[in-house]
Amino acid sequence: MTMSSTLLNIAHRGAKGEAPENTLAAFRLGLEQGCDAIELDIHLSKDGQLIVIHDATLDRTTDKTGRVNDLTVEEIRQADAGRWFHESFAGERVPLLEEVFDLVPPHIMINVEIKDSYGRRTEPALVELMRNKDRVGQVVVSSFDHKSLQYLKLLEPETRMGLLYDVNLGRHSALVSSLGAPVYSLHPNFKRISKEDVRDAVAQGLQVFPYTINREEDMMLAIQYGVSGIITDYPGRLKALLCPTV
Ligand code: G3P
Ligand code: MG
Repeated sequence: MTMSSTLLNIAHRGAKGEAPENTLAAFRLGLEQGCDAIELDIHLSKDGQLIVIHDATLDRTTDKTGRVNDLTVEEIRQADAGRWFHESFAGERVPLLEEVFDLVPPHIMINVEIKDSYGRRTEPALVELMRNKDRVGQVVVSSFDHKSLQYLKLLEPETRMGLLYDVNLGRHSALVSSLGAPVYSLHPNFKRISKEDVRDAVAQGLQVFPYTINREEDMMLAIQYGVSGIITDYPGRLKALLCPTV
């Protein structure tokens, strides 16, 4: 089946299925595989830098331990973030968000997920970096913490806000209007949405980017729902589905 569409192929933590998540190697692989956008997660270091990592600690995805927020960039950079995944990725470092902004071309959307506000210190740091790197309006900032997004919008009204959530989308049109600021996108758990939910959200002018869809049959279903993009660990798989070479 041939499917042409403007649907965004969003590489989850990079091409997480085939490279160590949230590393430059994973982002490069996603780009090589033809993704249109990259999703990544951020935490704040002890010295106030935005660090690209999913967990609050180094423990699961590096060869070091400790809380990111208790460590300086210099300390975090000593960790190997690739070997745990496969020997061929040894030497990968935990990236700074700044490095990802430098790596990823501007036509590729970056979805920055705020994992922790750290007492409202993450948001100003993110606004400053987006402004310095000319990425405001190109980045979509998402979070399960919607108050964090509201604060971000207050600091920088041009920020594109993405609501992450793990409950039924049907209840979320009310939430969107209660935020008091325009929402760019909804980021629901794929398991929680129906075709009707997606249709209603799209009719409201919202982008809908469900996470995390890895099986081909689920990708097909999401496309039938009319989603705006798919967050996947396998952007190569989605690319092959959207643009078969045969
Ligand atoms: O942004 C979608 C998805 O990344 C949310 O969950 O745990 O993978 O960050 P998680
Ligand atoms: Mg995430």
